[in-house]
Amino acid sequence: MEAFISTMTITYIFLALFLSSDIGSIPHVKSLGINYGQVANNLPQPDKVLELLSTLKLTKTRIYDTNPQILSSFANSNIEIIVTVENEVLSQLDDPQQALQWVNSHIIPYLPETKITGIQVGNEVFTDDDDTLLQHLVPAVINIHNALSRLGYSNIQVSTPSSLAVLQNSYPPSAGSFKSEINGIMYQFLNFLSTTKTPFWINAYPFFAYEDDPSTIPLDYVLGNNPNEGMVDPYTKLHYDNMLYAMVDAVYFAIAKMGFRNIEVRVSETGWPSKGDTNEVGASPQNAATYNRNLLRRQMANEGTPLNPRIRLEVYLFALFNEDMKPGPTSERNYGLFQPNESMTYNVGLTSVSTTSTSTPSSSASFTLDSSATKTKVKP
Ligand SMILES: *[C@@H]1O[C@H](CO)[C@@H](O)[C@H](O)[C@H]1NC(C)=O
Repeated sequence: MEAFISTMTITYIFLALFLSSDIGSIPHVKSLGINYGQVANNLPQPDKVLELLSTLKLTKTRIYDTNPQILSSFANSNIEIIVTVENEVLSQLDDPQQALQWVNSHIIPYLPETKITGIQVGNEVFTDDDDTLLQHLVPAVINIHNALSRLGYSNIQVSTPSSLAVLQNSYPPSAGSFKSEINGIMYQFLNFLSTTKTPFWINAYPFFAYEDDPSTIPLDYVLGNNPNEGMVDPYTKLHYDNMLYAMVDAVYFAIAKMGFRNIEVRVSETGWPSKGDTNEVGASPQNAATYNRNLLRRQMANEGTPLNPRIRLEVYLFALFNEDMKPGPTSERNYGLFQPNESMTYNVGLTSVSTTSTSTPSSSASFTLDSSATKTKVKP
């Protein structure tokens, strides 16, 4: 037993070192992103949203479809946009001809005026209730990538965002591993990412872990408050002062256990609801503001995770707006930093001038993403 543990420890330390040195060479663009979900009937027009993003100095966003109105409105702006192939379309894209046609009709018309930087093929397909969907994922990803290459746009990255439920184990981070039933297709997918130097995207919500177990998980740790005791991974001895980084490192370890060491992990969604049902412990404007402020502070400091401290973790916040037509518990409709009328749900610390109200810009006491952008530029 003792021998087993020490072998495990060495393996984990080895993986940790291997990961840090390898990932270190991956070039990446530095800016916080925000998810622009549209499951609502009361959102501002895309040109207004563009103004809002500009005011916030946010330059990266993701949409959950290929909404033509948004893609046209964002033309000739500095916004980089990631689009999504809806899960419903996935099965058709098994066929290379159909994939080419899809790219030709949904992507090409907007290039290069609209800066489409990525295509997410489906959303949380690995854990979708419809388990016939997953068999189409890798063929669709490959077909879209090939179509883009053929049309001269191989720089557009093709990936898919996964739910944290792809993991069998996530605690401690070094125990991170994928569920065995998805291993086969995950291997094919990771192989594609590795070959094309494309990131793995994870949707990671410390809120879900907290609401499941509020009596044992410290709120400071899930919110990323500083300082807090956090946790130490018994194998790597790495100290974690927030759960989001522990989740991301668990994904790094799961990927490494599949034999891949050069795939960057990015957060496609994270956030905290400002409102929830009575059983959704932790959902409040205070906690939402704290979680997102801590995240912004850490992004401004170019923080990486304990496993890859020098690689600034790329994060897309969820979400820009509250979405009134989302099904499910109350929290689902209340992740937005903004109300549909563009007033702030709570003050997260982004400098904002509402386009529909007379409120004044935040005082100098709050930081802005502008200073973040300036800061990241001077980093070697
Ligand atoms: C915007 O909407 C919120 C929520 O419905 C409301 O509380 C607020 O007063 C509205 N603000 C403006 C400026 O209309």
